[in-house]
Amino acid sequence: MSTLTESPAWLALRQHAEQVASGRIAALFAADAQRPQRFSAEGAGLFLDYSKQHADPQALDLLLALARQQDLQGWIGRMFAGEAINQSEHRAAFHVALRAPRDAALRVDGVDVMEQVHGVLDRMCAFAEQIRSGAWLGATGRPITDVVNIGIGGSDLGPRMVCRALAVQADGPRMHFVANVDGAQLISALHGLEPATTLFIITSKTFTTLETMTNAGAARSWLVAALGEAAVSRHFVAVSTNRAAVAKFGIDAANVFEFWDWVGGRYSLWSAVGLSIVVAVGPARFRDLLAGAHAMDEHFRGTPPERNLPVLLGLLSVWNHNFLGSRFGARSQVVAAYAQDLEYFVPWLQQLEMESNGKSVDREGQPVDLATTPALWGDVGTNGQHAFFQMLHQGAVIHPVDFVLPLRAAHPLQDQQRMLIANCLAQSAALMLGKTAAQVRAELQAKGLTGAALEQAVPPRVFAGNRPSNTILLPQLDPYHLGAVLALYEHRTFVESVLWNTNAFDQWGVELGKQLAQSVLAAMTGDQQVDLDPSTRALLARSLA
Ligand code: F6P
Repeated sequence: MSTLTESPAWLALRQHAEQVASGRIAALFAADAQRPQRFSAEGAGLFLDYSKQHADPQALDLLLALARQQDLQGWIGRMFAGEAINQSEHRAAFHVALRAPRDAALRVDGVDVMEQVHGVLDRMCAFAEQIRSGAWLGATGRPITDVVNIGIGGSDLGPRMVCRALAVQADGPRMHFVANVDGAQLISALHGLEPATTLFIITSKTFTTLETMTNAGAARSWLVAALGEAAVSRHFVAVSTNRAAVAKFGIDAANVFEFWDWVGGRYSLWSAVGLSIVVAVGPARFRDLLAGAHAMDEHFRGTPPERNLPVLLGLLSVWNHNFLGSRFGARSQVVAAYAQDLEYFVPWLQQLEMESNGKSVDREGQPVDLATTPALWGDVGTNGQHAFFQMLHQGAVIHPVDFVLPLRAAHPLQDQQRMLIANCLAQSAALMLGKTAAQVRAELQAKGLTGAALEQAVPPRVFAGNRPSNTILLPQLDPYHLGAVLALYEHRTFVESVLWNTNAFDQWGVELGKQLAQSVLAAMTGDQQVDLDPSTRALLARSLA
């Protein structure tokens, strides 16, 4: 069993949390008129307000002591040095190299990776320009109008989210994304597309993933049925680390965009996995996205912990979920992005956070004796306000919220943007302040309610308040600030893992289900030898009946 929870820094935090938990967030403002200034920080063009967290200055000091105890600075250094911090797979987690400038000296195993990184990036940009300009012609001599990215998990969620977030700036061909092995998604994506003007990007790090290979095969059959086998090389490109498997699938070696085993799937949108993004918005905007992420990397690497955005977010996450956690019970983290264009932000973040930190052994292979990742969920504001915010305001369990708010809109409906901002700020204020029975009673009395009717009406209208949140402001949702906010959350995820002493970069937990799916498939096709548990066997029998 890990001894982290018996360490001095952990015990000090636990003791202090009991004291803090009995007070109110609002009282922390009364004690410090400068709290909004003191409990906020800036970096890479983003502004983080964490003054509405249920944390006092001493809590912050103790969290920083935990960071020192867990050698956070050392781990950040190891990440940027390209060390094999993904120990169970003996790999670096070096996504920071993907957005570093050409002249950065970043090495893995003594090899300077910047030449490879920028070599592939240049090829991606050149290829995207060919598609966007109409110079790349399909097998019948017509330019490409539609691009379908086939991939799942990290090979889908990042590019899908960025293409959606920057859709108003997209000036390339129409983009489509297919992930699910449910054929309905491929059918719906192909509906209305012409084989002669469609390009498929098959995106898979391993090039073995069942869903992707199945959808890629079906897409290939669709194309070949219309244009013949020879058309494949003009209509299929691949993004992968597995050149041999790509060749076996029949994609031209010249049409392969590679990346490396030190790029984790959920950290890969900055690599060739982002090819669909470059095609959609163009090389200049993709490079701006990389520049924003790089600015956050530099902030993360070089800013003292007490002003370091990813470090602060990671510390506060651990504070909420491990120390104030006994009150929170559900151990979940809500993210509400007040921008319709960020509608796929939460699904991307879910893989990032929960595939990275859904772990129960530490780096030494010992069971952890603490809760690791919170369940992460949410939606865009204001939609969420009319769905799950009731629970956030009055539910018996507290769920901390991150509000993400781009300030300037790209559209001309400025009144609506003001309403969006007002709603976002009002929600975090309401969560913190709540509404007392006395306030409710006074309001109802002013409306003429008295006696038993008044007393009955009060309890359901009371808000306990004291519910913590962060607010992250972006000047606008442009590629640079989007890159910065995505890198912010990537590094927050890493910080949490360092504080928990877990490995954020492997994902063995997805393997068992994949293996069993193969067994169930074999049983479905009549293999009697497959050993299934009685429940699954009974369900299978009913499914086949
Ligand atoms: O879900 C498991 C996983 O391995 C993810 O980590 C990854 O992003 C996804 O599958 C897709 O993998 P690949 O890019 O190899 O097809």
